[in-house]
Amino acid sequence: MEITYNGQEHTFLITNGRISYVFSVEKNRYLAHRYFGRNIRNYHGGSKPYFYDRGFCSNPVPEDRTFSLDTLPREYPDMNQGDFRSPAYVIQTEDGRRVTRFCYRNHRIIRGKPALTGLPSVYTEDDEEALTLCVELEDQSMNAGIELYYTIFRDYDAICRHVEVVNRGEKELYLERLMSMSMDFAGTEYDVLTLTGGHMNEKNLNRKAVCGDSIIAGSIRGCSSPQATPGIVLMEKEAGEHSGEVWGFQFVYSGDFQAVVQAGQYKSTRVQMGMNPLTFGWNLNGGERFVCPETVLVYSGQGLNGMSGTFHSLYRKRLCRGVYREKERPVLLNSWEAFEFHVDEEKCRTLAGEAAELGIELFVVDDGWFKNRRDDKKALGDWIEDREKFPDGICRLAKDIRSMGMKTGIWFEPEMVSPNSDLYRSHPDWIIRSPGYEPVLSRYQYVLDLSNPKVCEYVIQSVESVLNTADISYVKWDMNRHITDLGSFYLEGKRQRELSHRYMLGLYYILETLNQKFPEVLFEGCSSGGGRYDAGMLYYMPQTWASDNSDAVCRMKIQYGTSLFFPPVTMGAHVSVSPNLQVGRRTPLSTRFAVAMSGNLGYEMDFCNLPEEEKEEIKKQIVFYKEIREVIQKGRFYRLLNPQTGNMAAWNFVSGDEETVIYCYYQILSEAVQVNTPVKLKGLREDCTYRLLRDGSCFGGDELMYAGITVEPVKEDFISHVYVFKNEGR
Ligand code: DGJ
Repeated sequence: MEITYNGQEHTFLITNGRISYVFSVEKNRYLAHRYFGRNIRNYHGGSKPYFYDRGFCSNPVPEDRTFSLDTLPREYPDMNQGDFRSPAYVIQTEDGRRVTRFCYRNHRIIRGKPALTGLPSVYTEDDEEALTLCVELEDQSMNAGIELYYTIFRDYDAICRHVEVVNRGEKELYLERLMSMSMDFAGTEYDVLTLTGGHMNEKNLNRKAVCGDSIIAGSIRGCSSPQATPGIVLMEKEAGEHSGEVWGFQFVYSGDFQAVVQAGQYKSTRVQMGMNPLTFGWNLNGGERFVCPETVLVYSGQGLNGMSGTFHSLYRKRLCRGVYREKERPVLLNSWEAFEFHVDEEKCRTLAGEAAELGIELFVVDDGWFKNRRDDKKALGDWIEDREKFPDGICRLAKDIRSMGMKTGIWFEPEMVSPNSDLYRSHPDWIIRSPGYEPVLSRYQYVLDLSNPKVCEYVIQSVESVLNTADISYVKWDMNRHITDLGSFYLEGKRQRELSHRYMLGLYYILETLNQKFPEVLFEGCSSGGGRYDAGMLYYMPQTWASDNSDAVCRMKIQYGTSLFFPPVTMGAHVSVSPNLQVGRRTPLSTRFAVAMSGNLGYEMDFCNLPEEEKEEIKKQIVFYKEIREVIQKGRFYRLLNPQTGNMAAWNFVSGDEETVIYCYYQILSEAVQVNTPVKLKGLREDCTYRLLRDGSCFGGDELMYAGITVEPVKEDFISHVYVFKNEGR
């Protein structure tokens, strides 16, 4: 791992021996991007850009008509200086001018990785794990600086970038646009991959060619959202799942974002990631610093699977935190699909009794446990147990559950308030709204104004008091509406534009405080399923309920797409009833399990209503999952067949010690003309022998990876096979 500056060539080389990142300082002032990709031992300027005298291109260095910012591959481009592509930032002075001229001033190299105050970020545990380059740009006239941070890791093929703006003057500056990173690639022969979708249909892979127009992905919903994911992948045209060069960009943020891919007029491709300028704005007082959230950049020469592997291991080990980073995640039963709002002490105790018999480790009481909550029309905000439903309190239930050998979890939606609640009646000014407009309802609820510290303290205190009074080991943190009426009664007029980001800062503060106060509690994020499944949330909550759609076929697709950036250990995945409540599909219990066991296994059904043979099957499933969960939760995951585009899904896991391989294969619909193409496993050792546990047959790693494996054909819809192989050595 090394960061060097070549003073003669004016180039920075950032490398860890596997990937390299290069940029230069041109004309002593302007940063130019040179390279991000496979490792190069040294950089001698072989790829330096040549300049031409181009029409309409302005020349910031008058004596050189060939030099223009509009043609330069840039590192952090400005506006108003002749680069007419998408700017990385726009800063306004107090008198409303938007001309800036930030130029290279100096740089320093820092051991380790500095934390981003108040924000989630990838971290290191000791300074030997990473090196950080900070390049400072300065606008002398404005008396302000922009610091660009680049961290390279010893153990991960990733680079983290973010920026900080420092106002050294006395006058206020207004940050109108501030992307977390920007990078210009040479050429336009790329494809772009994004994840799009909607509620119950999250994380669809969407691949399109870079063309003359810009591709803009983003959210202004107040969260990353089910419709978009703050991540984008640039790919060589010929790149696929297992080969080719790809560059992944993931924003470590859970609020409004924007990703831009823009072709330049002279065959360049600009990629940017940052907070969405439509809802972002920030007044920076003299002497203040603004820290922008970070973006993780991953290069892979082994296609999308290579990229996902890096994101997975980095996120699992250096983004997720707390005891559950390493601890096995419990098999849970969630009350929602069994009872919806109609939970009560008796029903929960009876179901918990059944759950304990079947091997469940965590019993989660979902929505409906608090005062007056009979449906979704009221009571959010009043986080006091409902004594009519729980006469002896949640505390009693948790004790009983503990005596059955399980832990208890509970549901909250702390960012919200129902108009019909004591909280709203006493604090109508605590919601996000604008004077003169009746705020828009969604699921009969409003969003609390987390820019207001008093509101944040209320939220902390309400969650805390429940966690302090009962033996609770798990919290499901839900968020079931998007933000409208962006306005705050707390913020002064000129700061209204700061609300979206301040909301996120408030939320991150709440989550950090609760993480610190309850280090043993497992938090699971949820936003009507995977509506806020992003890297920012994983910093505070190491797992997310991946979708409200629990149908096995839909889940195959959703989990496949989710794995582009996020490791299986972060995916809450439950077996639910058949016919499925969302789509009405009947699927075998074995297939529902085979999909859910590919993430954090849970169940979401009333066990009391199941026939005995299904209970027996579930008991066996849980025993099996407990045997192999370490492989699922900590192993390496490979996507093999894509159910979003075909009739089959397949993936395999390889344990960290390479001793166990789990291969999962799914056929969605049975077809009259069956085709059984061998599927090639990934990540095995070619010189080792693998024994298939179900029948003892043995195969070489080379055979499984290069010739592949077929499964016995079955003439049925929705079938699945799960094969466990043990590595027998050479
Ligand atoms: C949406 C979640 O995704 C569901 O699992 C459930 O918790 C409901 N909210 C409860 O209102």
